[in-house]
Parts: sequence; C-alpha cells; structure tokens
Amino acid sequence: MNSATRAQHPSPAAEPRVRIVPRERLDFDLDGDIPRWWFGGDPFKTRFFDAMSTLFPQGERMFIESVRAFRDRIDDPVLLAEVDGFARQEAQHSKVHRRFNERLARQGIDVAGIHARLERDMFSDRRISLAVASRFGVDENLWRLSVTAALEHLTSMMGTCFFERRDVLRDCDPRVRAMYAWHAIEEIEHKAVAYDVLVKVAGASYARRVIPMAILTLGFSVEVAFLMNHMLRVDGFGALERARMWARGLWWMWGPGGLFPPTLGYYVQYYRRDFHPWKIDEMASYGTWLDAFARTGDPVAASEALAAPGA
Ligand SMILES: [Fe+2]
Ligand SMILES: [Fe+2]
Repeated sequence: MNSATRAQHPSPAAEPRVRIVPRERLDFDLDGDIPRWWFGGDPFKTRFFDAMSTLFPQGERMFIESVRAFRDRIDDPVLLAEVDGFARQEAQHSKVHRRFNERLARQGIDVAGIHARLERDMFSDRRISLAVASRFGVDENLWRLSVTAALEHLTSMMGTCFFERRDVLRDCDPRVRAMYAWHAIEEIEHKAVAYDVLVKVAGASYARRVIPMAILTLGFSVEVAFLMNHMLRVDGFGALERARMWARGLWWMWGPGGLFPPTLGYYVQYYRRDFHPWKIDEMASYGTWLDAFARTGDPVAASEALAAPGA
C-alpha cells in the first residue's frame, strides 16, 4: 500500500484535483474473442468482477436518479455542472456494462433474471428504499442518496486501490482490464459529487451518512457472493469444487498481498466526522492514463500505459 496515497490530504479545503470528463462511444472490443474466464483463466477471480458488472446497469441508474432528485435544491453552479458530469459518466458506465453483460448471458448466466430482481428491488413499488422509509420513518430520497454516496466511496476505493498496484490486475484480458480502468478513472473523477449533494445540499447528519455505509458494506458483499456462486454453478462447478475455490479465493482477496487489505485504510476514512472524498488522493498513475488517452484516444492503450513498468 502506498501510505502517501492513502493518507488524508493535508489540505483542509479538500478541493478536487481532477476534472469530471464524460467520455462517450469508447471502443473496448468487447465483442472480440475474450475468454470466458478472462482473469488469467481463473473462474473465481473472473466471476468476482463479473458479479459486480451485473450490478452496475441498474445500480448506476439508481445513483443518477438519487442525485438528480436533489438537483432543484442546488444553487452552486459548480456543483450543478458536476452533477451533470456525474450523470453522463454513470450513464456511459451503465451502457458499457450492459454490453459486457450480454456476453455473460450468452454463457448461460441468468442476467435477465438478475436485472429483473434488481429492477423490482430498486425501482418498483416494492423497492427496498420505500420499505426502509416507511418502516423507519426516513425520507426515501435521502436514504437513496446516502446509499449512493456510500457506494460511490466503495467504487472509488476499488478503482483507486486496484489500479494503484500494477500486479493486481496483471493477468486480466487487456480489453476487460481497459473497461475497468476507464470506469475506475471516472469513479475517481466524480467521487465527491453524491457526497457533496448529501452533506452540503441535503444536510445529512453523520449518522445518516455512515449507517447506510455499514449496512451496504455487508449487503453488497453478500450480493456479490450470491451472484458469484450462481455464475460458478453455471460454469459447471459442483459444491465441493466451489467450496475449494472460495477457500483459495478468500485468500486471494484478503491474504497478504491480496486484493482488499490495501483498501481498508481507504474504506475507514468514510467513518471520520471530518471526512471528505478529496482528502484522499487519487492514485499516483491517474495522470498516466489521462496522458495516454489524450495521445491515443484509445482506452485499451491508456489502460496498458497503466500496466506498463514505470507507470
Ligand atoms: Fe460508475
Ligand atoms: Fe460512480
């Protein structure tokens, strides 16, 4: 872990140091000959990211709706422009992951069923946020916005921490890695938008901000594990094989040098009373991606620049 990067930024103003730039019509060659297990031939590692991909289209639509619900109350023109940039970026993420998820559907994964369930849970008159609002007497719009701000912290955390170390995603197919690199870059750029609307515009208290994070951390982990299990079953692995994969996979996630230990320092910042997303630096190689993309216009080349020695 790069402790300088993980440290709280010394500036009390916590100003953004990057601009929100929506990038549209990018070509990742997702219809190409990407292997079924695109993460080094490893089903567990592949399905971890694939499970998250199936959550993105509806999740990101909910993010956009939850922030836009407060748009009329924003009078800061800078924040208004950031909300629009955030919405345009998330709409593109949703579109690209929907395209990627079509590959998963062709592999036999019940993408339509997953999306139908998410649609019911997030948008129907049986949606979870409505049930929470009526059960606990909280404003539904505020609840949805606080969920969005929490998940935005988790996505910028993964984006920053996964691409900070070159070895983590070394074995991925370059096209899928490029999709996640672009997504990570944009998650970093707009990481403070939902938070600023939640705190500055909606005036959420500390408890309203952190309780959804605690719930979501558990809920998101359980959901991803549930989806991975479905995918690995479709891949043809029996219960015993899956149990072995989970044992090895949890070590890959949480063991020394694993995927998640470097995220912990980032994660807990959210629980500080004086937290702001821009008190955490973006990854050191953020500018490398930007320069390579400006030079080539190619998200795969930009991602490969991140993976190159010296990046
Ligand atoms: Fe996104
Ligand atoms: Fe986001």
